[in-house]
Amino acid sequence: MTQVTLALDIRPLTPKLGARIRSIRLADGVSDATFAAIYQAFLRYQVLLFEPQDLPPADQVAFARRFGEVQVHVMTQYHADGFPELYRLSNLDENGRPSGRHPDKGTLAWHTDGSWSEVTGQATIIYGEIVPAIGGETHFADMYGAYERLGDDWRRRVAPLRAVHNLDFSRTRRHGEEPLTDAQRWERPPVDHPILRTHPETGRKCVYLGDHAEYILGMPYDEGRALIEEINAGIIHPDLVYEHHWTKGELLLWDNRCVLHRATAFDVATQGRVVRRCTVLGEVPR
Ligand SMILES: [Fe+2]
Repeated sequence: MTQVTLALDIRPLTPKLGARIRSIRLADGVSDATFAAIYQAFLRYQVLLFEPQDLPPADQVAFARRFGEVQVHVMTQYHADGFPELYRLSNLDENGRPSGRHPDKGTLAWHTDGSWSEVTGQATIIYGEIVPAIGGETHFADMYGAYERLGDDWRRRVAPLRAVHNLDFSRTRRHGEEPLTDAQRWERPPVDHPILRTHPETGRKCVYLGDHAEYILGMPYDEGRALIEEINAGIIHPDLVYEHHWTKGELLLWDNRCVLHRATAFDVATQGRVVRRCTVLGEVPR
C-alpha cells in the first residue's frame, strides 16, 4: 500500500477538498497500481486535478471506463468525436468563433451530475480543450462538510426527506434551455433520492441535493421548493469550496456522490470555452 501511495505526487488544493496530481500522463495508459492510487485519492480528496497534457478523446473514455460504466447522455446532441460516452460543451460556431450563446446555462447553478437518474453519477471527468482567459471556472463544494455544518436540528428535520430530481425541471423550466423531446422525457422521468445519503465507499454521510431537485415527496409543492432553496443556499460555504480557474489541457475528476459543482459565467461573445466530459454511473443513493 505504501508503495502505491508513493507512486503519486499529490498536493492538496484546499484544507477540505481537492488535490493536484502531478507527473501522470493519462494518454500513456495507467497501470493497475497507479489507478488504485488515483482511486484512493479520488475517495480521499473528492476532486482531483491533473496537470495540462494532451489527452485524445479515446484515451479520456478509456480512463473513464476504469471507474465503471460510462453514462450515455440522454441529450444526444452533445455526443462528441464518435463516442456516445463523451459530451462536449462548446460555445464556438462552425467556424470556431464564439457564438455568443452559452451551451448549457444549467451548469451555472450548483448541482451534481446525473442526480435526475435513478442510478446517479459517480465520477465526472472533464478535459479542457479551450478555456477562457477570464471566467468559465469550475467550482466545487464539499457535501461531507455541508453535512457536518448542518447541526442536529437540521439533520433530524431533513433525514426522513426525499427530494424529486427532474432534468426537465432544472433544464427547461429553470434555465430556459431547449426543452427535452418527448422521447427524452419518457426516458428520464423524475426520480426521488434521500437528501442525506451515505457514501457507499467511504461510509461517510453527506448532503445530496443541488439544482436538479424540484420538490419534496409528501410535502406541498411550494413548501418543498422553499425548503430546497433554503438547503441549497445553506450548504455552500466558502470554507467548503474549491474554485478552479482552468488552464488549457487540464483534466478535472470529481466524485458526484459527495460534491456539488457549478461553472461560472464567461463572455460567450468574445471568449471560447470547449470542454469534453464523461460521467461514470454510480449507484442508487441510500
Ligand atoms: Fe455538471
